Amino acid sequence: MRMIDIIRKKQLSRALSREEIRWFVSGYSSGEIPDYQAAALVMAVWFSGMDEEETAELTSAMAESGEMVDLSGVDGIVVDKHSSGGVADTTTIAAGPIVAACGGMVAKMSGRGLSFSGGTLDKLESIPGFRTDLSMERFIEMVNTCGVSIIGQTKQLVPADRMLYALRDVTSTVDSMPLIAASIMSKKIAGGGNKILLDVKWGSGAFMRTSESAERLASMMVEIGKHTGRDTRALVTDMNQPLGNAVGNALEVEEAIRILRGELEGDLKDLIVELCVHMLEMGEVCSSRSGALREVHQVLEDGSALEKLKEMIGLQGGDPRVCDDVTLLPQAEKRIAVESSVGGWISSMQADEIGIAAAFLGAGRMKKEDVIDPAVGCWMKKRIGDQVSAGEPLAVLYVNRETDAEEAAERIRSAVTVGEGRPKPRDLVVSVLS
Ligand code: URA
Ligand code: CA
Repeated sequence: MRMIDIIRKKQLSRALSREEIRWFVSGYSSGEIPDYQAAALVMAVWFSGMDEEETAELTSAMAESGEMVDLSGVDGIVVDKHSSGGVADTTTIAAGPIVAACGGMVAKMSGRGLSFSGGTLDKLESIPGFRTDLSMERFIEMVNTCGVSIIGQTKQLVPADRMLYALRDVTSTVDSMPLIAASIMSKKIAGGGNKILLDVKWGSGAFMRTSESAERLASMMVEIGKHTGRDTRALVTDMNQPLGNAVGNALEVEEAIRILRGELEGDLKDLIVELCVHMLEMGEVCSSRSGALREVHQVLEDGSALEKLKEMIGLQGGDPRVCDDVTLLPQAEKRIAVESSVGGWISSMQADEIGIAAAFLGAGRMKKEDVIDPAVGCWMKKRIGDQVSAGEPLAVLYVNRETDAEEAAERIRSAVTVGEGRPKPRDLVVSVLS
């Protein structure tokens, strides 16, 4: 086979065969196919797309490019939950302990932040001492005893995705539906979970900018799940503003803790509860939606979900006292309010810009090798539909490098649109596919 023929075929919008897709994935992973030819192919896919069979084949080939995790040592049904990426999406850190407190099994491999979107691993590592590099044996043992463990993807997990992702990031080909679907599903399949719950985001803080495109992506991934024998469900959810109010690593851990303590309400908590209900149903811990809802509220109210988070943090080497005293998390030197220049109703937000503002303060990476500052970020004070007066804070910045504060403040101010009328509320969960 010749790479040049495969590129030409996709350029002409023809479907690639199973053999061609497998030959490309294995050749690229082993280093025989150079970056420039792989870049040409992903660009052709960006323009021409892939049909369902090609996408499923690409997914399997990528999943099999590295080690396949064997979770058969876990005594129960493992439900893997995955978000397509967003801003202030701290759901996993609260949902994992809630599901475990209800008797479910959560064996989660998470990723790091990427462009404007945060990553669960970076957030958890802001807890003093917390380790995300457990051995597979320790991981499985912890899931069996504690019910939940969250670790990093090992280097051997889907190397084809690691390489392709880095290539797409710098060739403007991230937002291709078949490429996103294969990237996410290959990691889920190699990750070994029996059941997969996907949270596909749409909006200004998501890779899919319309609810229709998010629904197409969700349905594509559910189909891939079917092709590969995994029971897959997908929620399509709103990401037109930061999901929670905290954007930044330690700040988001604080928000998750405060939700488990029962101190905060709102969209983030509502979505956490919704995801937990699906995980409990899929994991066959609860047989009905109403039963699952009751369980979730129970473990939130009696404090057992918070206790579960403490147990998980302690077992992974972290300081569980952060759950009782959030000031033990890294603290920024300075807080600076970002005030609205006009009064009115908050009508929309450019959520990706708010993620970038936090990254600018040091909460995310501008370059791959950047080191994250766990303490910094911003805490939004307003949400879409809130009223604001001129001079009132839209957000508070948590800052260690004061030189970056003005640009971050300006980005947030221009990311928030203040209008005259009250905007129509939008659904948090648009649809559920299975
Ligand atoms: N998340 C992933 O893991 N891969 C993508 O391509 C996009 C979001
Ligand atoms: Ca948050």
